[in-house]
Amino acid sequence: MTTERKDAEMAGGRIVDPAAAGGENTVDLSLRPKRFGEFIGQAAIVANLRTYIEAAIGRGEPLDHVLLSGPPGLGKTTLAHIIANEMGVGIRTTSGPAIERKGDIAAILTALEPGDVLFIDEIHRLARVVEELLYSAMEDFALDIILGQGPSAKSIRLALPRFTLVGATTRTGLLTSPLRDRFGVPLRLEYYGTEELKEVIRRSSAALSISVDEAGAGEIARRSRGTPRVANRLLRRVRDFAQVTGDGTITRELADHALLRMEVDREGLDVMDRKILRVLLEKFGGGPVGVETISASVSEERDTIEDVYEPFLIQRGFLKRTPRGRVATPAAWKHLGIAAPKTSAQDSLFGDT
Ligand SMILES: Nc1ncnc2c1ncn2[C@@H]1O[C@H](COP(=O)(O)OP(=O)(O)OP(=O)(O)O)[C@@H](O)[C@H]1O
Ligand SMILES: [Mg+2]
Repeated sequence: MTTERKDAEMAGGRIVDPAAAGGENTVDLSLRPKRFGEFIGQAAIVANLRTYIEAAIGRGEPLDHVLLSGPPGLGKTTLAHIIANEMGVGIRTTSGPAIERKGDIAAILTALEPGDVLFIDEIHRLARVVEELLYSAMEDFALDIILGQGPSAKSIRLALPRFTLVGATTRTGLLTSPLRDRFGVPLRLEYYGTEELKEVIRRSSAALSISVDEAGAGEIARRSRGTPRVANRLLRRVRDFAQVTGDGTITRELADHALLRMEVDREGLDVMDRKILRVLLEKFGGGPVGVETISASVSEERDTIEDVYEPFLIQRGFLKRTPRGRVATPAAWKHLGIAAPKTSAQDSLFGDT
């Protein structure tokens, strides 16, 4: 059982892919914060979690079940491990697609020590039968098992140790409501601000002995899609440019040069982001257009567009979701340097901005 992504899932080669660990797993692991004190940003979430944990420890009980949602690379797995560390308990990790049958989840649950954290990554991808077995495990710390078949079958209830389920998902909307409702602590991670990412970069550069000045750190931070995993990856790649073409120190100019070479533009958009916007603008006059159509036009899976690209483009104000489909904002036309048609749907949606 492991949450680390398989190589096949890392393929794709986008330098700013927030979902890909990019073969840098060992480095990533060494950079992963282990306690709340090392975890940067997400202040409200951390403050609440600290309170819940302190209270649970005070009562001598396990923490209530926690659901972590948010785009890839924002720290869901990291937080799950921090929760276990701060509670002073063990952690077992697995993922939705890895648990295929009832027997798999039963084996995992019965092997837990009292108080343990069970981390299920991609919990929205659990098989139905497995999910149903989890309901009573989460609520009553019991497992209902049917022995035998036909008229002689009988149901027995197996008591489980009390545990904390920590589930992670890229989109809460993909969870069934019975499962969602069983989490006492639902938490949504948001994109990080530039200052927070600068701090991530400072911390990582110290750990990896990378020399980066203030403005250089700021430039990488601004162009990291609000995502710590991307910030760490860009830092390592920019270091390569500093080593080969500079004097080893990452300055703003060097970071800018390196990022443009990697086709990460000054707004932090990469090739795929721009491709999506370009399709929207050039083929569909700025929209509205359905996500399926975008997906087909750029040859990227709908899920990836919805989980990875759209949230970022929306957060940066380049895209809007409307009931009729996706619409490009005036900022998108401006950023790509394409003149918006005068009589497009844009005017009615955004006025004359
Ligand atoms: N708040 C943070 N402070 C410092 N570093 C962080 C923080 N959050 C994440 N990181 C860094 O980013 C990396 C990716 O984080 P993590 O694996 O927890 O993301 P995730 O949300 O689980 O992503 P996925 O959805 O792809 O599983 C970590 O290894 C860690 O180095
Ligand atoms: Mg993860």
